[in-house]
Amino acid sequence: MNKENLASAIRQLCEEKNAIIMAHYYTRPEIQDVADFIGDSLALAQQATRVHADIIVMCGVHFMGETMKILCPDKKVLIPDMAAGCSLADSCKAEDLKKFIESQRQALSRNDQRPIVVSYVNTSADVKALTDVVVTSSNAKHIVDQLPQDAKIIFGPDKNLGSYINSVTGREMILWNGACHVHSRFSLEALLELKKQYPNAPVLAHPECKAVILLQADKIGSTKALLEFTKSSAARQFIVVTESGILHEMQKACPDKEFIPVPPEATEAIGCHCNECEYMRLNTLEKLYACLRDETPEIHVEPSVAERALRPIQRMLEMSS
Ligand code: 13P
Ligand code: SF4
Repeated sequence: MNKENLASAIRQLCEEKNAIIMAHYYTRPEIQDVADFIGDSLALAQQATRVHADIIVMCGVHFMGETMKILCPDKKVLIPDMAAGCSLADSCKAEDLKKFIESQRQALSRNDQRPIVVSYVNTSADVKALTDVVVTSSNAKHIVDQLPQDAKIIFGPDKNLGSYINSVTGREMILWNGACHVHSRFSLEALLELKKQYPNAPVLAHPECKAVILLQADKIGSTKALLEFTKSSAARQFIVVTESGILHEMQKACPDKEFIPVPPEATEAIGCHCNECEYMRLNTLEKLYACLRDETPEIHVEPSVAERALRPIQRMLEMSS
C-alpha cells in the first residue's frame, strides 16, 4: 500500500474501532498528518483525560503510552512499536532513584523528613510511583515555583532541564545525572555559525539542551511553546534546536517562514544532518496500521504501580492550571 492508501486504511480502522491516534511533534510527518491530536507531553496527558474513544494509539515513546494508560485505565492503549523507548527515561531506574532518595533523606537534619521528588514526565511508571509531582517542560517552572521555599527538592532525570529550572527559579534542586542523547549532542559550533549566517533569526531551544546552547537561545520552551512562538513572532527565519520532527508542524503553521535545524556534533558519525530521535521514528504508517488492525502491542501498567504513579500525574495536572 502506498502512503495515501495506508493513511485512509488507518482512518477507516479508527472509525470502525472507535479509536483515536495521538502523536507527539517528534514523530514522522506522515504520522502527524494521520493523527487526531498532536501535542507536547503536557497537552497529550491533558487530552487523555478528555478522550471518549475505546482505543488510544499513542504514537510517541513508551513512557507516553504508560502515562495514557495510567490516566485512562479502562481504555486499550496501543503503541505501534514497543521498542520506542527514551534514553532519558532509561537513565533513571526506579531502584537507583529509591536509594538516592533514601541517601538524601538521611542527609537532612531531621531524617523523619523526606525530600520532595519532582520527576520529569520522561520517566517510567515505576519512577513516577516514587515521585511527589510530575512535570513537563511546559510547566516545570510554574510547578517548582509552587513548592515550599525551604523544601529540599530532588529533580530527575534530566540534569539540563533541572539546571535550567534552577536558574529561572533561584532554587538549588539536587539533580539526577541524566540526559537525552538527542538534545545533548547539538553542536555549539554549528549553532554559532548559523547565527552568523542568519543574524535576524531567533534561536529556539528545548530546555533539554545543554546550558551552553540555552545561553544562545532567544526562546526556551517545550515543543508546543516553540511552535506557538513561531506563529506569533514577526521574524521570517528561525534557528531550531530541538528534534527535527517539530519542523513539520512549524512549516505547516507558517508556510512562508523558514526553519533552520541545528545539526548534531560529529555529523558524519551519526550519519544525518538533522537531529532525529530514533525512538520516535520507530512509529511508521505500516506499524500504525498493523497495530490498529491487530490491537497489539498493548501497554499494560501493573495496577499497584499505576495507582501510585497516578497521584503525581494528577497533582501535575492540578498544579498546571
Ligand atoms: P515536550 O514536553 O516539549 O513535548 O518534550 C518531550 C520530549 O521528549 C523532549 O525530548
Ligand atoms: Fe526521549 Fe530524547 Fe527521544 Fe525525547 S528526544 S523521546 S527525551 S530520547
